[in-house]
Formats: sequence, structure tokens, C-alpha cells
Amino acid sequence: MIRRLEAREPAAQDGPGGDGPDGSSSWAVEVRDVGYSYPDGHVALDGVDLAIRPGERLALLGPNGAGKTTLMLHLNGVLMPTRGHVAIDGTRVEKRSLREVRRRVGLVFQDPDDQLFMPTLAEDVAFGPANFGVEGSALVASVDEALAAVGMTEHATRSPHHLSGGQRRRGALASVLSCRPDVLVLDEPSANLDPVARRELADTLLGIDTTMIVVTHDLPYAAQLCERAVIVDAGRVVADGPILDILEDSTTLAAHRLELPWGFDIAAMRDLSDRSGRGLPTG
Ligand SMILES: Nc1ncnc2c1ncn2[C@@H]1O[C@H](COP(=O)(O)OP(=O)(O)OP(=O)(O)O)[C@@H](O)[C@H]1O
Ligand SMILES: [Mg+2]
Repeated sequence: MIRRLEAREPAAQDGPGGDGPDGSSSWAVEVRDVGYSYPDGHVALDGVDLAIRPGERLALLGPNGAGKTTLMLHLNGVLMPTRGHVAIDGTRVEKRSLREVRRRVGLVFQDPDDQLFMPTLAEDVAFGPANFGVEGSALVASVDEALAAVGMTEHATRSPHHLSGGQRRRGALASVLSCRPDVLVLDEPSANLDPVARRELADTLLGIDTTMIVVTHDLPYAAQLCERAVIVDAGRVVADGPILDILEDSTTLAAHRLELPWGFDIAAMRDLSDRSGRGLPTG
């Protein structure tokens, strides 16, 4: 069932007052009444409520300027809310918890150049875990595992600046995976990828068991990767539900400048999803 949320309607989920999904354990991600204004006074978030279960894969949808990237930057304290709060696995995001929260939440930025800055890709992938105190053979293992997960092992010793756009994107994902985050947040992961790289990235992401938030305009990709979708518009959550229900609701999509690509067959996708159990086959 889709919850459509009107302006100022409280969006509490089962589990009042910040209780976890089962009444005892914590939400993987909890965003309560978060508001944020940029220094120039622009209100980007205006009371976001969102709770995500451990292991859930959530698509964060919405038109340009909706506040998706701003919200993502709140999940590991790159930005701090002007009002409300964010908690990761029960730990509030605040100055004194930043190190812990940043270990748990990995952000993969829209532009890989924001993420890769070392002389070689391997050094970039080692940077995060080394910063969190991993060393020696454990560090080598994290780097090897992360590069292998994104199919970039053979490029380990190359300069990120000499890689193609799609390779840089995969390298940026490896630089986050090497920290073994509990929550993985990706901003437009499929942008600029060729069809094979796009599918390979989907395979990689579907093979990762962490809680995942995928910020995207690519609705078929979102449906392939995620079971639940949230639409954000004008800094608020305006719809929340199973992704195929959201994508079938053309009125809600249109109201928020979202549309499926021409010829996309949502009924066929539902059929595939029903037959495959969880998620959709990618090949
Ligand atoms: N540094 C900034 N200073 C002032 N306003 C900003 C800044 N960054 C973003 N904004 C504004 O905040 C709002 C939300 O921006 P945000 O980047 O979060 O949107 P988005 O949903 O990620 O959009 P897109 O789909 O285009 O990536 C927009 O109106 C934007 O103009
Ligand atoms: Mg954005």
C-alpha cells in the first residue's frame, strides 16, 4: 500500500517515538522531522520522516531540486539538520558520533571525482579503511575484496584520472565498499554507464547484503534494485510504498515530475518480480 503524505501530515511509521522495526532493535536509518536550510536561506528539507529497516533496499525518487542529495548528505553528518534528527542503527548523528557514523554509512557521490583523489585506485580504495585503523593484511584483503566486487582488480595500480567515467564510478563504489559499511547510499549510480556496466553494477549491488539507499531518476533501475520507494518533493516525503505500487501510480508519478521510459512494461516487471521472489533478475 502506498502512503501518500499531505503537507504537515506526521509520517510516523510503526514503532512510535523511535522504537525499532520489531519494537526492540533499531532502525538501520531513522530520519525524524528533519529540516535543513542552506547558508543562503534556501529551505532544502522541510520535515523529512523516514525509517529504514536493516537490510532493506530503498529507492529515493523525486524531481530535480527535491532535496534527495541534501537528505543523503545528512545520513553521515556531511550536513547537520537545522531541525529534527537522524540516527543510524540507534546512534544519533551528531558531532561526537561522526567517526562511528561515517564508518557505518558509506556515501557514493554522483560525481566519482569527488571521491577519488589518490595517485592510484588501490590507494583510494585503501584510504577509508586505513583511516578507520585497518592495517596490514586486513587492509590488503579489504582492498582486494572491494576491487573484485566491482570488477576493477586489473585497474588497481592505475591513476583514477586515467580511467573512463564508468570505471571511475565503479572505483568510487569500491572506495566505499572497502570500509564495509552497514548502510550504502548511492547518488545516481547508473548515470553515464554503458548498458553492460549498468547491468554489472546492478549485479554487484544485488549481491551486497547491506541496507541500501539508491537515489535515482532511473526508475527501471530502481525497480530492479529496490523493493521500496520513497518520493521526495519540495523537501518532504510525499509517497512511500512497495516500488512496483509506486511505479504503477501514474498520477502520483506525474504530480512529482516522474515518468517511466516509453514502452516500459510495469506489469511484465511485476510478473518477473513475483516469479523471482525478491528483486528482479538482471541478465
Ligand atoms: N549549496 C547550496 N546552497 C543553496 N541551495 C542549495 C545548495 N545545494 C542545493 N541547494 C538547493 O536545495 C534544493 C535541494 O537540492 P538537492 O541537490 O538536494 O536536490 P536533488 O533532489 O538532489 O536534485 P537533483 O535530482 O537535481 O540531483 C534545491 O532547490 C537546490 O537548489
Ligand atoms: Mg541530487
